[in-house]
Amino acid sequence: MRMEASGHNSPHPNPLPRAGEEANESLTRGPNRIDEEEDILSLRHHLVNWLFTPLYLLLLFSTVTGYIAALKLSNQPYDLVLTERARLIASRFDLIPEDITPGHTDLLPDAVGHLTFTLFDANATPLLGNATLPRPRPLDLAAEGPRLRSTSVGGEKVRLLTLRFHTTRRTPGSAYVLVMAEPVKDRLFLGRSILGNIVIPQFIFILIAGFAVWIGLKRGFEPLEKLRRAVSQRRGDDLSPLDEAMAPGEVRPLIHEVNALIERLKAMMEQQKRFVANAAHQLRTPFAGLRAQAELARREEVPPAVRTALEGICEGAGRCSRLVTQLLTLARNEPEARHEEAMIDLDLNRIAQETAMDWAPEAVRKDIDLGFEGAGMELPLHGYEGALRDLIGNLLDNAIRYTPRGGRVTLRTGPGPWLRVEDDGPGILPEEREKVFDRFYRVAGSGQPGSGLGLAIVHEVAQRHRARIVVESGEGGRGTAFLVNFGR
Ligand SMILES: Nc1ncnc2c1ncn2[C@@H]1O[C@H](COP(=O)(O)OP(=O)(O)O)[C@@H](O)[C@H]1O
Ligand SMILES: [Mg+2]
Repeated sequence: MRMEASGHNSPHPNPLPRAGEEANESLTRGPNRIDEEEDILSLRHHLVNWLFTPLYLLLLFSTVTGYIAALKLSNQPYDLVLTERARLIASRFDLIPEDITPGHTDLLPDAVGHLTFTLFDANATPLLGNATLPRPRPLDLAAEGPRLRSTSVGGEKVRLLTLRFHTTRRTPGSAYVLVMAEPVKDRLFLGRSILGNIVIPQFIFILIAGFAVWIGLKRGFEPLEKLRRAVSQRRGDDLSPLDEAMAPGEVRPLIHEVNALIERLKAMMEQQKRFVANAAHQLRTPFAGLRAQAELARREEVPPAVRTALEGICEGAGRCSRLVTQLLTLARNEPEARHEEAMIDLDLNRIAQETAMDWAPEAVRKDIDLGFEGAGMELPLHGYEGALRDLIGNLLDNAIRYTPRGGRVTLRTGPGPWLRVEDDGPGILPEEREKVFDRFYRVAGSGQPGSGLGLAIVHEVAQRHRARIVVESGEGGRGTAFLVNFGR
C-alpha cells in the first residue's frame, strides 16, 4: 500500500468543487420542474374567462341599446325642425295668389335646401310643390297635428311628415295636407357620432378593467407561486410540513390536509424503516450461525456434489450476512434512529488512514494499488467515529470492487476537512451519479455482487455530519472520484 504523509504533491491541489460544477454533480437534488406553472395559468385563465365573457356581453348589449337610444335622440331635434318648417310653409299658403300652378315654389322659405314637399287638397289631389311625394294616407288626412314616419321615396331613405291645416283666406274651413320629406343621412351621421361617444369610452373602460383584473390576479397568485417554488426546491427526502402561513386563506385548508398527509407518510415510512431494521437485527444471528455451520461442514470429507452445494451455501450465507450488516448500518445512520453513538472530537486524517489500512488486504487480494495521501496533519472534526469508518469503508469497498485488477485507488484527505476516494475504474455515467445514492440502486452490468446499500449509507452518514458529496470523474476523465466535504 502506498502511503504519503502530505497532500502537497497531490495531482489535485484543490479538489474542492467549484461553484459551477455543483449543478449536475452535487447530490443536492435540483428543483423538480414539473409544469405546475401551467396549472396555475389555466386557473388564472379560468378566472379571466369568467370575468370577461360577461363583461364583453355587457359591452355588446350596451352598444346595441346605445345605438337605438342614439338614433332616437338624434331624431328628436331633426323632427322638431322639420315640423317647424312645415308649419312655416303652411302659414305662407294664404299669401300666394289664387291661380296657383303646380311647381310654384314661392312657398319655400329660403335655405330650405334639401327639403322636398307637395301640397295636397283635402281629396289628396296634389296642388303644388317641388317634388312628387306619396299621397297622404286616410289616417294622415284625418289626423290633427303633424304626423312623422320613416320611409323611402325614390330609393332614398327619408323622414316623411304630413301636416293637415286649414286656411282662413281661401275657401274658409277647407283643409289641405302638406307632405314633406327630408333625407335621413344627417340624422344617421348624428346618431353614429353619439354612439361613438358612448362606445369608445366603454371600450377603454373595459380595457382598463381588464388590465386591473390581470394585475390583481397576478398579485393574488403570488403566494401560491411562492409556495410552489418552496415545494419544488425541496430535497427528495425532506418531509417537513409546508408553511401554512405562506398560503392564501382559500388554499390553507388544502395545505393543512397536505401536511397531514405528509405526517402520515412520514409515520408510515418510519414504521417501515423500523420494521426493516428489526428484521435485519433478527436475521443477523441465524445467518451468522448458518455461515459458521456451512464453513464447518465444508472442512469435512464429502462427495464433490455435496462440496459444490456447501460452497454455494457458504457464499450465499456470506452475502446474506453482508446485506444484513449493511441494512443495520443504514438503519443506525438514519435521522429517525436513536443514536447510541455520541459525537466526539476526532481526527479525520487518522480515521481515514486506519480505514485504508483495514482495506489493504482486500486491495492486495484484488491486485489493486491502494494509496493513502493524508493531509500530513491532524484534521479535527466533531462527529461519529463509527459512522465515519462506515462511510470511508463503503467508498473504498466500491472503489476496490468496481476497479479491475491492476487498477489504482487513492484516498486523500485535506483541511476543511475533506476526503476524496478516487479510482481509475469504469466510472459512473453523469446521469447515474445522483441515483447511485438511492437504496438498492445498482448500476446494471457491473458483474459484481452487492446490495445497492453502500452509497445509501455514505449518504446518510454525510447527512448526519452536514457534509456534501460530489461525484465526479477521476484523473484525466477516467474512473470515479467521491469527494466528501465536511466544511461544506
Ligand atoms: N467507484 C465506483 N466505480 C464504479 N461504479 C461504482 C463505484 N461506486 C459505486 N458504483 C456504482 O454504484 C452502484 C451503487 O453502489 P453501492 O450503493 O455501494 O451498492 P453496491 O456496491 O452494493 O452495488 C454500484 O452498483 C456501482 O455500479
Ligand atoms: Mg457498494
